[in-house]
Amino acid sequence: MKKYIYKNYKINHFSEINSTNIKAKEMAIKNEISDKEIVIADVQTAGRGRKNRDWQSQKGNLFFSILLKPEKEISQIQEISFVSAVALQKTIEYFIKTQNSNKNIFVKNKWPNDILVNNKKISGILLESAVKNEKLTDFVVVGIGVNLVSHPEKLIFQATNLSKLKVEVEKEDFLPKFLDNFDDFYQKWCYFGFKTIRNIWLENSWNLNQEIQIDQDHEKISAKFIDIDQQGNLILERNGKILKITVGDVS
Ligand code: BTN
Repeated sequence: MKKYIYKNYKINHFSEINSTNIKAKEMAIKNEISDKEIVIADVQTAGRGRKNRDWQSQKGNLFFSILLKPEKEISQIQEISFVSAVALQKTIEYFIKTQNSNKNIFVKNKWPNDILVNNKKISGILLESAVKNEKLTDFVVVGIGVNLVSHPEKLIFQATNLSKLKVEVEKEDFLPKFLDNFDDFYQKWCYFGFKTIRNIWLENSWNLNQEIQIDQDHEKISAKFIDIDQQGNLILERNGKILKITVGDVS
């Protein structure tokens, strides 16, 4: 394992591990890593996505987890996935804009925490946390995967990668740019709360004011996506009624 520092972030770089989220949680429990420390791997042998799905983790793509110890209540922790999403959206957009002159490439935030490029998934976030007591969090692990050079085929929701868009970025260049953006948004969230982050997320949200479909465990709901609320829940409208969705997949 190699250790290095970027600004106020300590980085622990492994060539191969099971999952950066699992490793970050193990290291946090043993107090081997602290606030704003990162676990990154070239290859993950058991990368995981939301709902315990597989996250294919071949060499060349970016897999990392950030350990955070925010002094916030448990009810606010989910907001960190939106903080991470806006930082990812800005970073991906930056690299696309600097290398591809096509004005018709759009980078969007898909609820709850995916980043899409022209309707295809390029990045996902897996947030996991440990609690101190019934109100406070002990630590949060934000796991991020970015498809830099390849993407899985035959998924229910199509995927893409930066290389396919003629955008060549090494993970050594992506990570610092992301951390600059993340640190900025994270500070804003720590000091001013979710309001600013929510507005920035909404500015680039996928299918706002459109009919969308939500796949929940046992049913599919079709409704108009009109907002996210102060906790990041999805707000829909159907036949004049307002629906609040806390979990689910948007398709
Ligand atoms: C999703 O879209 O379902 C979330 C995907 C999160 C994948 C990343 S890769 C780095 C970190 N380690 C994991 O095992 N998962 C996250």
